[in-house]
Amino acid sequence: MKNIGDPLPRVDGPAKVTGAARYAYEWQVPGMAYAVLVTSNTARGRVLEVDASAATREPGVLAVLTPQNAMRLPGPTQGEPPDRVVQALQDDRVYFSNQPVAVAVADTFERAVHAALMVRIRSEPARHTVRLEDELANAVPHDLIAGGRSIPADEARGDVARGLREADARVEQTYETPPETHNPMEPHATVAVWEAPDRLTVYDSTQWVFAVQRKLARAFAMPKENVHVIAKFVGGAFGSKGSPWSHVLLTAMAAKQVGRPVKLALMRPHMFGMVGGRPHTRQKLALGARKDGRLTALSHQSASATSRFDVFVEGCALQARHLYACPNIESKHRIVRLDIGTPTFMRAPGEASGSFALESALDELAVALDLDPLELRLKNHAEKDPIEDRPFSSKSLRACYAEGARRFGWEKRSARPRAQTREGMLVGMGMATAAYPGNFAPAQALARMNADGTALVQSGMLEVGNGAYTVMRQVAADALGLPVEKVRFDLGDSTMPEAPITAGSISTASVGSAVLLVCRALRQRLEQMGASGAASYAEVVQRAGGAPIEERSKAAPGEERKRYTMLGHGAQFAEVLVDPELGMVRVARLVGAFACGRVLNARLARSQLMGGMVWGIGMALHEHSVYDEKLGRIISRDLADYHVASNADVQSIEPILVEEEDTVVDPAGVKGMGEIGTCGAAAAIANAVFNATGRRIRSLPITPDNLL
Ligand code: MOS
Repeated sequence: MKNIGDPLPRVDGPAKVTGAARYAYEWQVPGMAYAVLVTSNTARGRVLEVDASAATREPGVLAVLTPQNAMRLPGPTQGEPPDRVVQALQDDRVYFSNQPVAVAVADTFERAVHAALMVRIRSEPARHTVRLEDELANAVPHDLIAGGRSIPADEARGDVARGLREADARVEQTYETPPETHNPMEPHATVAVWEAPDRLTVYDSTQWVFAVQRKLARAFAMPKENVHVIAKFVGGAFGSKGSPWSHVLLTAMAAKQVGRPVKLALMRPHMFGMVGGRPHTRQKLALGARKDGRLTALSHQSASATSRFDVFVEGCALQARHLYACPNIESKHRIVRLDIGTPTFMRAPGEASGSFALESALDELAVALDLDPLELRLKNHAEKDPIEDRPFSSKSLRACYAEGARRFGWEKRSARPRAQTREGMLVGMGMATAAYPGNFAPAQALARMNADGTALVQSGMLEVGNGAYTVMRQVAADALGLPVEKVRFDLGDSTMPEAPITAGSISTASVGSAVLLVCRALRQRLEQMGASGAASYAEVVQRAGGAPIEERSKAAPGEERKRYTMLGHGAQFAEVLVDPELGMVRVARLVGAFACGRVLNARLARSQLMGGMVWGIGMALHEHSVYDEKLGRIISRDLADYHVASNADVQSIEPILVEEEDTVVDPAGVKGMGEIGTCGAAAAIANAVFNATGRRIRSLPITPDNLL
């Protein structure tokens, strides 16, 4: 029997489409009250007064929490990064527009909305800056936090200045990606229930129940065991729910103050500012190459926006360290402080935005050298990590290039721009390399064999659309030698064995490994007890008295990993149609071939990659948090103004799986696939737009006005 690799449909699919799957806001508790946020309309300054007198006189209104009357939290509101600094009405400071400044609580949702609308805020504004270019002169280096470890802001090898001098062709350009805002289908939501003065149950839409538990325990000065966090289903997260934001503390505070369970959901406009997004970046690329295409210099310097009160660094220049063979490399990160909410991880944070710049620059170099863009990449294929001087644990990038190019029909491309038309549209083809780290963090799991021969496996990871319920069940069933129907996998509860954050494409690799190890351990134990195969598990448990037999295991990165660079790789190919009169761009086809270790479930893997590639379309053509600079606020505050790729924007998306064996990366042999589909996609599209039009767009998104 072999379940791993089977394209099993999502086991939670029926629950999701019938509405049986319960998301955070849907949990019902007797006596529930409803909270609605009131947010600042100034970008910087102080709240002088929150006038809630009219609101609190309305029927059903239980309280309006303000900086004046909100409870003082006995503990700190923040922990170690990536935990975010939040605003929980503990002082009168305003750091960004749309920051929470009050919370209206009522006995019904409608009354809470009504009360929130009646709250009047008087504030003292101070001068604000939301424009990256205004503060670029004050950019400072900052290390990154990625995959749970600290990565130095700058790394270099060789002498880039010399490499540029020795080059026959050079590209020195600046690229820009706009601020983007997280908009999962399900906005953030929290339900807080105080079971006792020092016991709290929380239903939250999160990527990490243990982070929510830690933050609440710290803020309310309670042992963490007293905080129970549950999240069975999360309606999209993509990094936005990786750290608990202000509303989590505010909901628990509101519940404490009104003495009732309280539920709070962010409304769509609340998403813009207080729960992060991709920061505005300005990236300088300098490439030098010999006539034959071999790189002599690669410099990638990135500046990204962060808030005044917290740090997030978009790791745009990280890939330059690992992707291409080059004797002279430098990669630098700077942060620029603005009066905005703290940006955060957003699907392939750094890799997606950085690959737009790097892979666009390579395309420009190919033009300068009169080389095929794919040929240029093959000429600079890194056989080992160029900066760390160590091998890759596995690398199938050549196969990705070959498979992708073949399926896409790359040989049909004309090197000359504006050479192909179809039905009056300019046709362009472009490509880019994709890469994303093979992350692995310590994870724990338990496995239990029941007296009826069914197994229960648990780990406190999250189902965020990643297919966790399905894939973990497959891994467990394989390791136990059981059919998948006999195995249940449960997740999303802080009382379960501890799992890392469900982010960084880390979960299937990490929890998958823990599940594999614990199920192997359970199987071995049952065999020692006399089981001679899966058919005799029930009998063995019954003979031992009938109580479930349980094992617990932990998977953790070992020393061996340190000797390798671990990356998933891919090759993205885009065909665009550009209307020569209107400047409208359509992505007719996206083909991406990806090698990310073992494929546990081809159907779900394709679905992850497809989703990532669709994000690439959004990044290339649509997403942009537009600021009103005078007011210091994002004015595109809903899905009518903030555009994401919709069905009509998505034509043919074809992810190709290039399977590879990797015995180093983690016991499951998996390099995550949640993010790599977004990497390189925007660059492939921008490069295709150049091929179609001869116009090089270095600032995203590519809107019609840029092309006319
Ligand atoms: Mo993802 S941006 O690592 O949740």
